[in-house]
Amino acid sequence: MKPVFKNIPVHKIDSSPFQKRKYFDADKLKDLAASIKNDGLIEPIIVRPKNDRYELIAGERRLKATINFTPFKTIQAKIIQVDDLQARRISATENLQRENFSAIESIEAIVEIIDAHLIEDNEYESMGETPETRLNVLFGKLHSIQNSLDRQSKVSEKSQLLLHKFVQQLEKIFKKLPKRLEWKSFYVHDFPLVREICEDIRKISLENQLNKSQINAISEVKKTSKEAYQHIVNHTHSSDTPKIENNNQGEKSASIFPLRDMSAREIKQAAEKIIKNEIKAKQNRKQNLLDLNLTAKKIIMLRLGIPFHRIAKRLNISQKTVVESSEIIQSVQHDLKNNISVPESAKKNGLPEPLVWHIALENMTDQERFKALNWGLLTWDHWYWNDLDYRFGDDWPGRIPAQLVAHTLFYFTREGQLVFDPMAGGGVVPDVCLAFHRRCWSFDLSDRKDKRPEIEVYQWETKGLKWPVNNKEKPDLIFIDPPYFKKKASDYADNSISNLSKDRYLAFFKSFLKLAFHHAKPTTRLAFLNADWRNFQGVSALDEDERSSILITHYAQIMSDAGWKITQYIDCPMSNQRFHPGVVSRMQKKRTLGVVRRTLIIARKR
Ligand SMILES: C[S@@+](CC[C@H](N)C(=O)[O-])C[C@H]1O[C@@H](n2cnc3c(N)ncnc32)[C@H](O)[C@@H]1O
Repeated sequence: MKPVFKNIPVHKIDSSPFQKRKYFDADKLKDLAASIKNDGLIEPIIVRPKNDRYELIAGERRLKATINFTPFKTIQAKIIQVDDLQARRISATENLQRENFSAIESIEAIVEIIDAHLIEDNEYESMGETPETRLNVLFGKLHSIQNSLDRQSKVSEKSQLLLHKFVQQLEKIFKKLPKRLEWKSFYVHDFPLVREICEDIRKISLENQLNKSQINAISEVKKTSKEAYQHIVNHTHSSDTPKIENNNQGEKSASIFPLRDMSAREIKQAAEKIIKNEIKAKQNRKQNLLDLNLTAKKIIMLRLGIPFHRIAKRLNISQKTVVESSEIIQSVQHDLKNNISVPESAKKNGLPEPLVWHIALENMTDQERFKALNWGLLTWDHWYWNDLDYRFGDDWPGRIPAQLVAHTLFYFTREGQLVFDPMAGGGVVPDVCLAFHRRCWSFDLSDRKDKRPEIEVYQWETKGLKWPVNNKEKPDLIFIDPPYFKKKASDYADNSISNLSKDRYLAFFKSFLKLAFHHAKPTTRLAFLNADWRNFQGVSALDEDERSSILITHYAQIMSDAGWKITQYIDCPMSNQRFHPGVVSRMQKKRTLGVVRRTLIIARKR
């Protein structure tokens, strides 16, 4: 049937089910609308009739510009009668002819064109569920057959037929593309970009109209350092003016311009600078553990909800003087309002950073807190971080990632609830509780009155175990991160449970978990972090003596025997980046199977 040209009402046109592009730059649509108003529509849009209405096939930008930015109620359209597959092909081809297409969009358009042409072939259709997976399989097969032929290796007849059938079709399709391109080069250089890209990079690439090398550079940065990636992305929204950032040491850090104006090299250089500054800042933070003044000590302990009489006792002051000084809080609030960063304000006011985060993150939801701290929020039960977050906790043997604590608080507590940490060590739990506005009572056998007044001194005895406080209030969450069996035994004090024999170590948990159960309320949750202990060093996996091991299942059994009901096992692997390649290669030679698995067991009382 011949096409008909007609002015049709815009409200009668439905969008195309084959149009995948969802991102349209508003400014560019306005420019297009201005040209439509001045010169009219140079090329009509293409539609097909469908149930008394029309379905758009090509011309989404023209239609959007007309609807949103012109007074016109109708639009010139070419009406054609085509089936779904033809509509899809026309839509894909038309898409590629658009000007100012970003790299990702044009690769996706080519994928769509190829798929729309090959989909009628049963063999091709069965190669996968989506155009990307189908093409990946097809390209992979053709590429390897072609390589074998080039190397003059034997190739089965079936493979030769497949190559013959599809290469011809592909060459035909590629010949018709507006830009000269060969299918092999497309498979090797362009296709990986859409196959491997994650959703957030795709979005950023579209918003910033990035080219291929920019996309590769930003993807590489994301793989190397999440912090650098976040920094570049968060500070380079297209409307941003160039920025020079000051880090907490007052040094100038990487200057960042709108992402689209940065070359791939500049993106990588900026990332390198951010990573270097971050390392320096971490090192300085490690060294700068403050002796706190009395005002700061009182604020921290009060904000963590430690009862007055215990604060007075710990700080050796009268109960009447346990009051907060609003001056210092106001000074921090003033800094934050004036865009002074958290580390700078902490330094200026002589406060630990977590307390300043506490003030900065007040009146926010937990999700907003994760965002502000630049942490992704994990949705699944596998929590892995390459590195610690040095803003929380002290340089302490066995220190855990602050994100692990934050996720536990997020899933198992609510704002204002009480967390109990019986072996607080470097203080990651109280620090994160401060930032996330949970109360926290924490204890450890090591006494650091001046640096960590909030961690009260208490030694859990192996015999005649007692609860350290006799308040009526019971915790909502007991978070226990004990020294793992034999691990770091020499780093902790002599009376640490890490020095116990296997039997006594397990006996300690039997008593502790019973006691904790007794001091819990019906809704209390227990979070117990530990790892398998296996005597794997220097032995092959087959020769390990399992009689000496303590597996996570042993702790789970003890927990259940004490009355706790286990609700979740969360994998929190330890970072494996710290292993020296030499060690790894020795392990591999011996077939030694190391341990990085660490598990957070969650249980409830009832
Ligand atoms: C793995 S560390 C905790 C680390 C902490 N979660 C952090 O991220 O900094 C275990 C702590 O348990 C403490 N500890 C060991 N035996 C103890 C006992 N019998 N009573 C009290 N604390 C003990 C050690 O002093 C050590 O600080």
